[in-house]
Amino acid sequence: MSNSGEAELLHIFKGIPFTTRSSPELLKSLDSFDAREDDVLLVSYPKSGTHWLAGVITKLYNTQVTITSPIEFGDISKLEELNKLSSRRIIPTHLDYNMLPPNFKNKKCKMIYISRNPKDTAVSMFHYYRDNPNLPTIDTWTAFFDLFLKGNVVCGSWFDHFLSWEEHEDEKNILFLFYEDMKKDLPKVVKEITLFLSLNVSDNDIQDICEKSSFSEMKNDTEKENSDPSHTVCALTSNRKLIFRKGAVGDWKNHFTPKQNIRFEEIFNEKMKLSKM
Ligand code: A3P
Repeated sequence: MSNSGEAELLHIFKGIPFTTRSSPELLKSLDSFDAREDDVLLVSYPKSGTHWLAGVITKLYNTQVTITSPIEFGDISKLEELNKLSSRRIIPTHLDYNMLPPNFKNKKCKMIYISRNPKDTAVSMFHYYRDNPNLPTIDTWTAFFDLFLKGNVVCGSWFDHFLSWEEHEDEKNILFLFYEDMKKDLPKVVKEITLFLSLNVSDNDIQDICEKSSFSEMKNDTEKENSDPSHTVCALTSNRKLIFRKGAVGDWKNHFTPKQNIRFEEIFNEKMKLSKM
């Protein structure tokens, strides 16, 4: 961070850095949130492909659904706002499992967790920090790399976030997805989503939805007049144009030095030693 005044862009809640777009009052009140059995949660650490997944999911329903802004985004009026929605709610969140409103867990709401190679996630987040005025200024990739590994970035440690969710991977109401699998075979992943959500979608329609959800289509959509440029499923910006950067697997190779890669692998192996990943 180049400027100490910018520290005001972030605040810490339960040990995790949030932007001031998530008010402490809202975060405190999350525990009292009233979930509905048919809510669907779309969960991710930032930069893991949340918008891609959201784009796919909204196209799968033929009934009215509302994809809300992230549950942790806004002020205390947020929960009331969500309560007023009459249609089925698809609710995005970057929250750690432990911070999730307990009502979602008690009611066994369906939750989809999307994850991405943390090296690519770090690179994507570095660019996001650079382009996003809601986040502190970062001077160099080297500086960001250190912050990311220490978990001193918005939403905290990638490792803690992933592990908090992975612990619940076997619960029937939670589906774990990977960005890389979506890149490799999107129709296969979409089929998996339809089974999980009990949606009846033909293979032809799945094919069509996948074509409409390609990186280039989604990026172009943000330029179209009928798209809402100020609706995102990320609590860190409302500017959709900031989301679609490169959409590739392995961009980390263009940023990591060999030394950084070794350090990352060491920390990854240590932190993830009990993980199945
Ligand atoms: P890059 O910065 O590596 O390009 P999120 O939606 O969680 O903020 O994640 C954003 C990342 O997903 C960005 O990664 C973005 O380009 C990528 N992304 C968005 N839509 C995509 C799509 N249709 N196909 C592939 N990647 C996509």
